[in-house]
Amino acid sequence: MIGLFDSGLGGLSVARAVRAVLPRHDLIYLADSAYCPYGPLATAQVRERALFCARWLVAHGAAVIVVACNTASSAALDVLRTTLEVPVVGMEPGIKPAVAATRTGKVAVLATSGTLQGDRFGRLVEQFAHGVTVRTVACPAMVDLVEAGLLRGDDAEAVVRGYVAPLLADGVDTFVLGCTHFPPLAPVIATVAPEATLIDTGPAVAAQTARVVAKLELAPGSGRVQAFTTGDPALIRPALWRVWGETIDVAQALQGTIT
Ligand code: DGL
Repeated sequence: MIGLFDSGLGGLSVARAVRAVLPRHDLIYLADSAYCPYGPLATAQVRERALFCARWLVAHGAAVIVVACNTASSAALDVLRTTLEVPVVGMEPGIKPAVAATRTGKVAVLATSGTLQGDRFGRLVEQFAHGVTVRTVACPAMVDLVEAGLLRGDDAEAVVRGYVAPLLADGVDTFVLGCTHFPPLAPVIATVAPEATLIDTGPAVAAQTARVVAKLELAPGSGRVQAFTTGDPALIRPALWRVWGETIDVAQALQGTIT
């Protein structure tokens, strides 16, 4: 079984990409809704939550963990890899493909403040920017949209426009979706910025997951998808169905604490 977690519903965009390449493998998804959003939390708190979620998934049968969250990957990937006995697949904003795609020499990374302030992100820009201007924008209201299941319509468009329009006016032609909550908003972003290139690293993470699964010789299952939340399942169910695109059950998981 492949375990994935995120602060909330954004990681479902990664789960979908994983299901596209490994349709017969069973997935177990944990939304840490009780502590969502991770963006404004201290790094140590995100690390604590990431360890809690990953351990919960392992205890429930996950043989590989996908950190379906850029913020948690930034804060906790190293400690997860040294602590857990199962392989851990992480993610990072797609600076490299964005730099390859831009024609104006200006790219923007839309992410959380936690991801953008992390050391990992600084190193990524240093390594791959190669003279391209990298603008960074924390977009917490876009996380809120997805948690509310508002994936289209005037309100969603107004929020996205507020972040994206000034960047377009400044010559940005490539947007890195550096938070897993943002791929579900890609149609809205494309409405606001029809000429822009959007970079989603979900498919690359799914491809890496497939390599790890092959190396582990993990036997496929029946393609079952189970979803759990540390919050109230009744509160997130409608938005979860909208983001996932199908009605699946979501059950209560232990909540845990942070110090
Ligand atoms: N989905 C998450 C990410 O990829 C975090 C959003 C949040 O909880 O602030 O960064």
